[in-house]
Amino acid sequence: MATPHIAAKPGDFAPRVLMPGDPHRARRIAADLLTDARQVTDVRGILGFTGSYLGEPMSVMASGMGAPSISIYATELFRFYGVERIVRVGTAGALQESLSLGDVIVVSSAHTDATTATIRVPGVALSLAPSPRLLVDALAVAGDAARVGPVLSSDYFYLDRPEVLDRLTALGTLAIEMEAAGLYAVAAAERREALTVLTVSDHLRTGAAMDAAARETRYRRMVDIAARALLARPVGGASGPA
Ligand code: HPA
Repeated sequence: MATPHIAAKPGDFAPRVLMPGDPHRARRIAADLLTDARQVTDVRGILGFTGSYLGEPMSVMASGMGAPSISIYATELFRFYGVERIVRVGTAGALQESLSLGDVIVVSSAHTDATTATIRVPGVALSLAPSPRLLVDALAVAGDAARVGPVLSSDYFYLDRPEVLDRLTALGTLAIEMEAAGLYAVAAAERREALTVLTVSDHLRTGAAMDAAARETRYRRMVDIAARALLARPVGGASGPA
């Protein structure tokens, strides 16, 4: 059985999935992290791989950019491929002065300007948050190596509205990215588990941006935290969401 956007067979995906935005990054993570990784889908160049990590089956699948894209892939993985747990790994632009390039952020909630927070329950802006269990597990794994807090998941990479950033910064929002809210909304709708872990790749206050070498080393730290959080508890329980 293939779904409209994933050309894999039943059983091709592991219950645990790491989800970067970039398909090239998915290939790289699969090569670096997984044992015996094989490609299981390539529809539209959105690559998915399955292998094992520390002896447990694990998949890596790209999400593309933005809430619409990650919502499609996360929904199909949860609904049709038996996936139970997705951890997004990506980059973000920092808002707070206290953050530096390369810092890792565990996303405890996602504000959004996308309709993903408001489309499901008329009149209500959903509180978009990760699975509490995955959040706790990621923080236990990360220790002092990560910050934890809210981000903005925006539909706009290019939006010249500095007052929006100022207000979000005043509210303690750590950074901006484009997918966490979409993923969290889908996980809630499908009654599955999700989390987002980010690396600060650029700083919206200072204009600083990470070079390619720093992206690689810092990316690895984020992926290790995400993969270990994915593994922290058994899967296969019919116990519903965290
Ligand atoms: N905005 C949105 N997404 C991002 C950014 C940003 O500044 N940096 C990295 N991902």
